[in-house]
Amino acid sequence: MSHPILITGAAGFIGFHTALKLLEKGHDVVGIDNLNDYYDVTLKNARLDILRQHEGFHFEKIDIADLPALQNLWHTQGPFKKVIHLAAQAGVRYSIENPHAYVSSNLVGHLNMLEMCRNTDGFAHLVYASSSSVYGGNTELPYAVSQAVDRPVSLYAATKKSDELMSYSYAHLYGIPQTGFRFFTVYGPWGRPDMAYFLFARAISEGKTIQVFNHGDMKRDFTYIDDVVDGLIKGLNTPPTGDAPHRILNLGNHRSEKLLDFIAVIEKELGREAQKELLPMQAGDVKETYADISQTQDILDYAPKISIQDGLHEFVKWFKGYYGN
Ligand SMILES: NC(=O)c1ccc[n+]([C@@H]2O[C@H](COP(=O)([O-])OP(=O)(O)OC[C@H]3O[C@@H](n4cnc5c(N)ncnc54)[C@H](O)[C@@H]3O)[C@@H](O)[C@H]2O)c1
Repeated sequence: MSHPILITGAAGFIGFHTALKLLEKGHDVVGIDNLNDYYDVTLKNARLDILRQHEGFHFEKIDIADLPALQNLWHTQGPFKKVIHLAAQAGVRYSIENPHAYVSSNLVGHLNMLEMCRNTDGFAHLVYASSSSVYGGNTELPYAVSQAVDRPVSLYAATKKSDELMSYSYAHLYGIPQTGFRFFTVYGPWGRPDMAYFLFARAISEGKTIQVFNHGDMKRDFTYIDDVVDGLIKGLNTPPTGDAPHRILNLGNHRSEKLLDFIAVIEKELGREAQKELLPMQAGDVKETYADISQTQDILDYAPKISIQDGLHEFVKWFKGYYGN
């Protein structure tokens, strides 16, 4: 009997796309999400409506910080031998004002997922979301998994690094196979309204001013959602082995783009020029990200394909369709 794949954060941006791809490949997927209002819940529900069109999809509104609810889910819908754990309180800037949300979802929630996997006979693989933000104040580029990451510059980054440490200990103690992916600024259709590219598109299309931090002197390794989903699924199918079966992999594009170039592509796609307010660096932010993906290429045969031109074209096409021109 094949077991359904559990996806936490299934109503979220990356969870939605990953669930959709797995359903299209014929897998059964159980999705959970607490549908919190960190950003527009209508968008989360609209994503779920699409997933619900697939017979193999089942959704439950559950908070991963609620261990009895997870135990009940495992009992009624599981057991789950493969888990893609993406539910988290995301966002660097929000963690400055709302620290406790990060502890509940990212620390207690992550521990609960580890406990559930630990108590599942024949558990196969836990794939979970870390973040490029763990590289924090590192100045050596590109960011490689071999670098020390002891200097998080936000609580969000500190919780993601803590997840990696907790996961390692569970791999060491209980042999639970795990892969942690450090995502690099993921963007695309059905994306996150709190992220810069989305805020830019919204403001430019409404003729409002966009806020450009560090006076535009920033670079980001932008990764298109389809490339991320491809990496995640390849990762899920390739569990690590050995004594402490845990690995961390970067999931980036291996291209660091200037923020102003990225904005120019959005302007072109929208056919409107941005009014820019140039501001200093924000607390918790980093100036540049750039992913070394050599290990991800070697282990998973991962090869990101989508340029920011093509990716933003797809994003803006969706944005106009969803919100209307
Ligand atoms: N998008 C990116 O660029 C990016 C970059 C680095 C890391 N990540 C990580 O990838 C994962 C997915 O990110 P995303 O961009 O899809 O974000 P998202 O906010 O769209 O998705 C996360 C989902 O998890 C749900 N959630 C949050 N706390 C929960 C809880 N306690 N219980 C149950 N559900 C909960 C939210 O309602 C949301 O739908 C997150 O772990 C995030 O930290 C994302």
